[in-house]
Amino acid sequence: MRVGVLTGGGDGPGLNAVIRAVTKSLIRHCNAQVVGIEEGFAGLMDGRVRQLDWRAVSGLIHLGGTVLGTSNRRNPLLEGEEGAQRVIESARALGLDAVVAVGGDGTMAIAQALWQRGLAMVGVPKTIDNDIVGCERSFGFDTAVAIATEALERLQTTGQAHGRVMLLETMGRDAGWIALESGIAAAADVILLPEIPYDIEAVAAVCRERESRQRFTVISVAEGARARGGDVVVQERIEGRDEPVRLGGVAHVLAAQLQSRISSEVRATVLGHVQRGGAPTAFDRVLATRYGNEVAQLVCRGEFGRMVTLQGGELTSVALDAVAQGRRSIPPEHPLLDCARQIGVSLGEPA
Ligand code: F6P
Repeated sequence: MRVGVLTGGGDGPGLNAVIRAVTKSLIRHCNAQVVGIEEGFAGLMDGRVRQLDWRAVSGLIHLGGTVLGTSNRRNPLLEGEEGAQRVIESARALGLDAVVAVGGDGTMAIAQALWQRGLAMVGVPKTIDNDIVGCERSFGFDTAVAIATEALERLQTTGQAHGRVMLLETMGRDAGWIALESGIAAAADVILLPEIPYDIEAVAAVCRERESRQRFTVISVAEGARARGGDVVVQERIEGRDEPVRLGGVAHVLAAQLQSRISSEVRATVLGHVQRGGAPTAFDRVLATRYGNEVAQLVCRGEFGRMVTLQGGELTSVALDAVAQGRRSIPPEHPLLDCARQIGVSLGEPA
């Protein structure tokens, strides 16, 4: 059996740990020949592959990025039926019996479309955003939360020294998971999420109240957060990308809105791609290894059209077509939201 492995979409900490685990497991369990596909579906279309053996994947578990490279500028589905057929023909020409696609919702949607057209596909969920449908925890998320938590803590000490309002903008697209978990972990005073449009007067009131008591305020704001009745998302269209790219800046807009309402100085930090680069946490290394091993088992058993996932803390798999249905935001009834409110964290809601 000859199996291709690719990493698609934006990178995330833990990709190399998956590549390592899936390769080792495929070799051990079904004596498969494993090839790494360079730069995601773009490389598959062009037939750019290299052999992955035990030695090639040794020493990878802690490395950030992806040794295979990735590409989110070339989605074969944007080239219509012709694009999909070109990928399938190329996979056949490379003699691939199956392809393991590691990526986020976009990668899973492509995997599903190719599976529907007869290419044996399986998926592994990757995203720092933690917004893949059917997946409780994607690898990469824990690392992003750890980095954001550290950043918030650093902002807290400088904010305290100067009596300032410190804003940290985290990634996550239209989901606020990173802002929420890092905000709770770093004891932020305010957490602003895309799922709960904020009331600027309520946020200003928290800052003013803290001005008289503690002098400083720390605000964790998700890049997709928006004010009630307004949209402050800063984004741009880039050729070849199927959705607008966020450029970061919600925190600056919010800082300006706040500065005109309070007397303390306000400072904004956009954390950006620091959240995605570098070594994965131990949790993400373990999760990525478990996912890599599990997806190899699916391939060896001939179970295709599925994505490995974590549900109720258990490793399992779901049909790719169930995953390709949108994104997972924080549901209004999520217990962490109430937990935050109950310990006095403002979610930017009016009093
Ligand atoms: O999906 C992961 C992510 O890092 C988002 O949180 C962010 O909005 C986006 O990708 C950034 O994309 P790019 O790397 O193309 O700027």
